[in-house]
Amino acid sequence: MVRAEKSARRSRSFSVNYPIMLVSETNITRTKPLCPLFGTCGGCQYQDIPYEEELSRKEITLKDLLTAQLGLSDRVFEPIVSSPEAYHYRNRLDLTLRRRNNGEWQMGFMLQGTQRLQEVAACPLARQEINDFLPALKAEAIKIFPPKYKVANLVVRVGEGGRVFWGGIGRRSLKMKEENYFFVTVRGRKIFYALDTFFQANLPILEKIVSKVESLIPWLEDTVFLDLYSGVGLFGIALADRAQEVVMIEEGADSVDLANYNIAYHGFKHIRTLVGKVEAHLPEVLKELGRKPCVAFIDPPRGGLAPSAIQTLNHAKKLGSLFYLSCSPESLARDLRALLQGGWKIRKIMPFDFFPRTRHLETLVWLERS
Ligand SMILES: C[S@@+](CC[C@H](N)C(=O)[O-])C[C@H]1O[C@@H](n2cnc3c(N)ncnc32)[C@H](O)[C@@H]1O
Repeated sequence: MVRAEKSARRSRSFSVNYPIMLVSETNITRTKPLCPLFGTCGGCQYQDIPYEEELSRKEITLKDLLTAQLGLSDRVFEPIVSSPEAYHYRNRLDLTLRRRNNGEWQMGFMLQGTQRLQEVAACPLARQEINDFLPALKAEAIKIFPPKYKVANLVVRVGEGGRVFWGGIGRRSLKMKEENYFFVTVRGRKIFYALDTFFQANLPILEKIVSKVESLIPWLEDTVFLDLYSGVGLFGIALADRAQEVVMIEEGADSVDLANYNIAYHGFKHIRTLVGKVEAHLPEVLKELGRKPCVAFIDPPRGGLAPSAIQTLNHAKKLGSLFYLSCSPESLARDLRALLQGGWKIRKIMPFDFFPRTRHLETLVWLERS
């Protein structure tokens, strides 16, 4: 085993350890970071090693963490799914624009835990259209920057068509006209999103994860698909034709507006949305659905599931399959332990590299009733 792997094996947490940073002299190939800010900006951890090596370290670290905490067999782990693009995949950047006391303008990233703003001319993780737009963004933002402001948080985004929009100065500046909504095509279906809604950062990998979910289970004629923490409805819309009925639950009203737009755009009559917390709506929804077989897809924020949501999932006997997509291995491990105690069995754990060159990792877990 190479030293890098040993180091990765020792690490127990994605947020605490940077396996790569601990390894300075090894027999692995070093690559020249694409970004002059690598090591300063803090956004990337893996630009100086080949992508294959990064994938292997992520796979090992995840396996170590979940095996140590849950005592799992190696057989449940599937190989990591790589991103189609290792660079220029992000469809969104969040930047700070600041006017200094001496009148000088700065636009870039705030360095974590500091008041320092790192000027950024381009980010190699961002889509090229965003990078090409950054000089114009700065000029446009300065032009409308109110005299009373000192600082503004800018959001700049792009979709499949390549058009770039930005917002962040003034109330409702993130609101978009319908005709400007961004979109991505998944399973031949356009999914729209906006500046003010959550949307996955890596568009090219979405087809892979949706196809995976689709392929794992037999979809029965009367299956109800519960898209929980649904955002603008990405998974529910992409898999709409596999289910007799789709129920989406999402607490962000802006995202639910977009989900309703997506549903209407495709003319779906069998999908409904509920605005609010999963833990509040799910018990009622399950009761209403009676005996219908349900498949749930849960995609919570970094903190994971509320204890009451776990309790509901554990008691929902008609839920045959549960897919848990997580962006935090730590909260995933905690929630999986509670789900295992509640009678679920892990069938497969599938890491997906949504965030190449960074320490972040997305994990899809497929559970069934034991
Ligand atoms: C990681 S995002 C996933 C969104 C969507 N599945 C997608 O892939 O685009 C998590 C979403 O959960 C929503 N959310 C957070 N806490 C929630 C809760 N307790 N109940 C319902 N939705 C929640 C957030 O607003 C956000 O849209």
